[in-house]
Amino acid sequence: MSKQRVLSGVQPTGNLHLGNYLGAIRNWVEIQQQYDNFFCVVDLHAITVPHDRATLADNTYKVAALYLACGIDLAYSTIFIQSHIPAHSELTWLLNCITPLNWLERMIQFKEKALKQGENVGVGLLDYPVLMAADILLYDTDKVPVGEDQKQHLELTRDIAVRVNDQFGSKDKPVLKLPDPLIRTEGARVMSLTDGTSKMSKSDPSEMSRINLLDPPEAIAKKIKRCKTDPVKGLEFDNPERPECNNLLTLYGLLSGKPKSEVAIECQDMGWGQFKPLLTETTIEALKPIQEKYQMIMSDRDYLKSILRDGRQKAEAVANETLARVKSAFGYSTPL
Ligand code: TRP
Repeated sequence: MSKQRVLSGVQPTGNLHLGNYLGAIRNWVEIQQQYDNFFCVVDLHAITVPHDRATLADNTYKVAALYLACGIDLAYSTIFIQSHIPAHSELTWLLNCITPLNWLERMIQFKEKALKQGENVGVGLLDYPVLMAADILLYDTDKVPVGEDQKQHLELTRDIAVRVNDQFGSKDKPVLKLPDPLIRTEGARVMSLTDGTSKMSKSDPSEMSRINLLDPPEAIAKKIKRCKTDPVKGLEFDNPERPECNNLLTLYGLLSGKPKSEVAIECQDMGWGQFKPLLTETTIEALKPIQEKYQMIMSDRDYLKSILRDGRQKAEAVANETLARVKSAFGYSTPL
């Protein structure tokens, strides 16, 4: 029996941080052997809000290098850049034309981002989930590892696929495969270092709110030293009045590889003065091998480009086949 297919992606906006790693990429690494995986850098999504042309290409390569540095293994996974495969844009157009406008207007992330953008809301921001649906559906994806915040987009993807199948497929011959979300079991929602109730995020204006995967040890030490805590002695998980405490213990557990039960006992009598240096040390040690591997990969751009070229070829073969199937189902003539 052939392996089920997994697809996921991260946007190339700035530095990846611990939230991206612990919440996404590390989970991909853990499951990759069981699946046939496609991991893309979604640089078309990156222009749905105003972007910087000077850094787009570089950030895209950096994220691809970080995938490899974090342990994505080419024996099980294909890494590619979304914009290198025209089928993503083309399927998006086809899906646009069968997606009701009000499905997109309902999306929570659109509403939140649109509010932030004020006057400057492009059509692309509204269309973002259709592009994501195209990413997923092009690869006949079985499972999509996503966080809580992307679940609504995955449901939309399924709704779009059902609509295409209803309108253009037959019962025994669906045009598109319905993907399922792959929600991780161990909760790894990494929160901001300056506010334990909001997610660690690239768009937070304060650098102190996040630890980037490429932060040098001094920056990590400084951020943890200054991070928000509380005046209570003795550390504990899951106390709703102590969100920062829960977040920092969770980080410690994930980065040290110790189970929650062990961390709870180890830290139950600690004060912050004892815990913070421990978390600092653990974070620096956990990121060290990733940073070393990243430097190695980035020092050989030709190697990185050859990986991405291979990835593009493998991905494109699959994507083009699906695109041709959809166009034919829509009734298009075959290109002459
Ligand atoms: N929207 C996703 C996010 O911000 C990124 C993404 C784009 C994605 N295309 C995808 C994730 C396809 C999974 C599958 O996290």
